[in-house]
Amino acid sequence: MKVLLPLLLLAASAQAHYKFPRLTTNSRDNGAVSDVNSPDMRCFQGSVGKATATVVAGDTLGFVASSGIMHFGPCQFYMARVPEGQDINTWEATGNVWFKAGSISAVGSGVLRGDEATWPAYHKKEVSFKIPKAVPSGNYLVRVESIALHLAQNPGGAQFYISCGQINVTGGGSGTPGPLVAFPGAYKANDAGLLWPNSPAKTSYTAPGPVVWEG
Ligand SMILES: *[C@@H]1O[C@H](CO)[C@@H](O)[C@H](O)[C@H]1NC(C)=O
Repeated sequence: MKVLLPLLLLAASAQAHYKFPRLTTNSRDNGAVSDVNSPDMRCFQGSVGKATATVVAGDTLGFVASSGIMHFGPCQFYMARVPEGQDINTWEATGNVWFKAGSISAVGSGVLRGDEATWPAYHKKEVSFKIPKAVPSGNYLVRVESIALHLAQNPGGAQFYISCGQINVTGGGSGTPGPLVAFPGAYKANDAGLLWPNSPAKTSYTAPGPVVWEG
């Protein structure tokens, strides 16, 4: 089964910024974060969510992009379990609480280009990942990020389009997701995955952050 979270990527302004507002409510206008140390790296300025979607472990969770992902680069998905006794609507998800649950990164060999053949998420109107079957049941924040590399010739040039959604995972397993990282903290401005030099062009690419937890 596939569950779609109505996270919209809005096309905003001539700079072609876009964003994933947190669920469908309370969107803000300025989409991009470029400081990896900013607290906005966590959930952008996503205000408190208004709805928690119920999904079954093993389901595919999709995010709708109303006008498509407008820059090339990876699209990644992180999850953070809401601790017992915490309210999903107010929990801040600080510290090492996030594991990577999915990554749509560069494909192909040879010189990598900034095109759709290399970047499967580029220009997509919907991106998705599979909730690992072994993830324990409970409430989670899901953080989706699209990293735009078109201006990433130097450290600080990559742009992050980020939002968080809320899900309640049912039918989960007894896995121990990890490694756990913090946002901000997981990325450094000079991470290789945040740089896109013109010359020499890259022939391999590894997205920033920890490995995907496969469950
Ligand atoms: C998640 O949904 C299930 C089934 O509706 C419910 O029993 C459970 O209490 C929910 N869990 C949380 C943490 O809200």
